[in-house]
Amino acid sequence: MAPGFRARPIWGGRCDACGAWNTLVEEAPLGTGPKGGVTRGRSVALSTLAEEEAPPPRSVSGMAEFDRVLGGGLVAASAVLVGGDPGIGKSTLLLQAAAAFARAGLSTLYVSGEEAAAQVRLRARRLGLADAPVRLAAETNLRDILTTLDAERPGLVVIDSIQTMWLDTVESAPGSVAQVRAAAHDLVQFAKRRGTAVLLVGHVTKDGQIAGPRVVEHMVDTVLYFEGERGHAFRILRSVKNRFGPADEIGVFEMTGGGLAEVANPSALFLSERDRPAPGSVVFSGIEGTRPVLTEIQALVAPSSLGTPRRAVVGLDGARLSTILAVLEARCGIAFGGLDVFLNVAGGMRVAEPAADLAVAAALLSAREDIAVPADTVVFGEISLSGALRPVGQTENRLKEAAKLGFTRAIAPARSKLGAGEGMTVRELPDIAAFVADVFGA
Ligand code: TYD
Ligand code: MG
Repeated sequence: MAPGFRARPIWGGRCDACGAWNTLVEEAPLGTGPKGGVTRGRSVALSTLAEEEAPPPRSVSGMAEFDRVLGGGLVAASAVLVGGDPGIGKSTLLLQAAAAFARAGLSTLYVSGEEAAAQVRLRARRLGLADAPVRLAAETNLRDILTTLDAERPGLVVIDSIQTMWLDTVESAPGSVAQVRAAAHDLVQFAKRRGTAVLLVGHVTKDGQIAGPRVVEHMVDTVLYFEGERGHAFRILRSVKNRFGPADEIGVFEMTGGGLAEVANPSALFLSERDRPAPGSVVFSGIEGTRPVLTEIQALVAPSSLGTPRRAVVGLDGARLSTILAVLEARCGIAFGGLDVFLNVAGGMRVAEPAADLAVAAALLSAREDIAVPADTVVFGEISLSGALRPVGQTENRLKEAAKLGFTRAIAPARSKLGAGEGMTVRELPDIAAFVADVFGA
């Protein structure tokens, strides 16, 4: 606008954006007052921290593993993103969940942008879900979908996947960041406006990001990742963000010929493949979300033919391995130079807790010394750079779960004994050097 030009005010009774009449509200411009200061805004309504809020209404599907990861059921008007690699089983999971919610009485719509309706129907029949009262659409035009949703007002809508949805108001191609962002925005707005819960499927790109660089993650209330190793049947649904429940909660499933089966006791499953105690194998008593889960940590240490020995890690953090190797060398004089190190969490599980440090160190030492850690022993504890063992949270739960699965001994940092029940002996150790002396007699 040219300097000095002033638009002539004209009467306007109709909104240019939505076409509705008599919806315009006067906004005072942010200008200068008569004395030159900035005019003041309106005051914002304030409340107290003590005000009572009813808990958000939740629908329960009856798929216990799915409900738990959501924080105890699906919250009305919430938006949930389920991310995962292509082919991991997202469509299977969400079709099963949609059928479960529908059978539990929630009016449910499943929109597939990836498969034709006949394909989805075929899968439903194969999974024994054909009789569930889920209504189905195969569509990618989001404007049409939103119009349909506005008319139908379902309690739950599943969008499979967000990357296939497109809006004609956005110029870029379907699947582009701009489209994904706009489509997710409109669906989240719809959820809030109409009280419908929206479950969005999102494909994760190779570098582990949900395409549309994480934009969708910020828009939704809850982000779940569906993960698992290709060769394994186990699938883990993990909440990485949840406005309505604890994050880091996991649900465990097994991919079978008849779809995803719930695994109520993951510890038993993860340890089921374990045979005789072998050097390099250690059972870690971990906490995933609100649940203790035992996993087997496996290490293999072999002379290296390479100038720079290999450090291959699956299911654990590679940087953490480097730190533990450095601590073992600096504090105990046990070097791994010239040795290839392979580290693995059995069963396709991923462990991110620092509490796994001691179990990792135990597996490495056990593999290197070719001495098995006793089969009835679980190990947990964080290792500091000084080599000291730090106590970890939820000791009691860790010990209880171990006892439940038949373990009778635990090796842990100081102050862990308190939580031990009957039949569980806890060996408390102050530092990594004491651990080496105790277990490997060095
Ligand atoms: P799918 O749900 O299509 O994965 P996504 O939506 O994440 O791309 O499932 C992918 C794989 O699951 C497919 O390769 C076949 C397998 N599968 C089973 O093993 N059993 C079953 O009952 C179903 C439906 C799928
Ligand atoms: Mg799919």
